[in-house]
Amino acid sequence: MSVAEETRESAPTTTVLRTEGLTKSFGGVRAVDGATVTFLDGKINGLIGPNGSGKTTFFNCVTGMIRPDSGKVYLHGQDVTRWAPHRIARAGLGRSFQLCRTFPRMTVLENMLVAVQPHSLGEYLGGSRSPQTVQRAREMLARVGIEHLESSEARDISYGQQKLLELGSTLMPDPPFVMLDEPAGGVNPSLIERIAVLIRELNEEGKTFLIVEHNMDLIMRLCDHIVVFDRGTPIATGTPDVIQSDPRVLEAYLGV
Ligand SMILES: Nc1ncnc2c1ncn2[C@@H]1O[C@H](COP(=O)(O)OP(=O)(O)OP(=O)(O)O)[C@@H](O)[C@H]1O
Ligand SMILES: [Mg+2]
Repeated sequence: MSVAEETRESAPTTTVLRTEGLTKSFGGVRAVDGATVTFLDGKINGLIGPNGSGKTTFFNCVTGMIRPDSGKVYLHGQDVTRWAPHRIARAGLGRSFQLCRTFPRMTVLENMLVAVQPHSLGEYLGGSRSPQTVQRAREMLARVGIEHLESSEARDISYGQQKLLELGSTLMPDPPFVMLDEPAGGVNPSLIERIAVLIRELNEEGKTFLIVEHNMDLIMRLCDHIVVFDRGTPIATGTPDVIQSDPRVLEAYLGV
């Protein structure tokens, strides 16, 4: 074992995100129900669970998009519960949306430019257009593989390409911690492979990921640490091997 490997193996794992007793109800539905979970810094984390098990609601609570009814959210140990979304974003958390939030009548490049965090009202309205930002946007489009579409309006590109644009725009502010809600949903297999390679590369460059995905092959191949949700609460936590052999997971997914 090399010194570098030894150091990595013995380095203590730190927590990027922890929730304690996180709860959010919609009417009578407890979408997230007392969720106490931990995700690991520097890793590719996965959050899986059946449809309606509360994964997107969990993301929305963590990123400040909706207020939890109770419970706490800690980002790098700091209590960020009830922080506004822009403040959480500035703290280094980027997220993508399950349903793309691209601007349909803007070009692909313009969508990337408005994704940069604004420093002034002018930048907010017009996006940042400094040569460095435009160059970065083009580089990022190349990394997600849609640089040839930069002049197309977002409404004219395919659904899979819109997912790649959503991923690229999430990465534009260079967040150290990236939460992706179904990045491969509805995307064709060759583009899924591109997404998988990119996530692994970015992780090797130092980014931490938390990925919600129904594509089990992708999750099991990519993730170091997985949490399984059922009815808004974690029922299993561990490595892909541990998760795949857990009877509670099979029961939640397959009803066996
Ligand atoms: N804004 C809302 N108003 C009312 N109910 C909601 C709302 N958002 C989510 N729910 C309900 O909360 C529960 C959890 O939904 P959520 O979207 O978080 O699940 P999910 O795990 O992301 O599902 P999927 O895998 O299908 O994306 C579901 O019963 C859903 O119908
Ligand atoms: Mg969802």
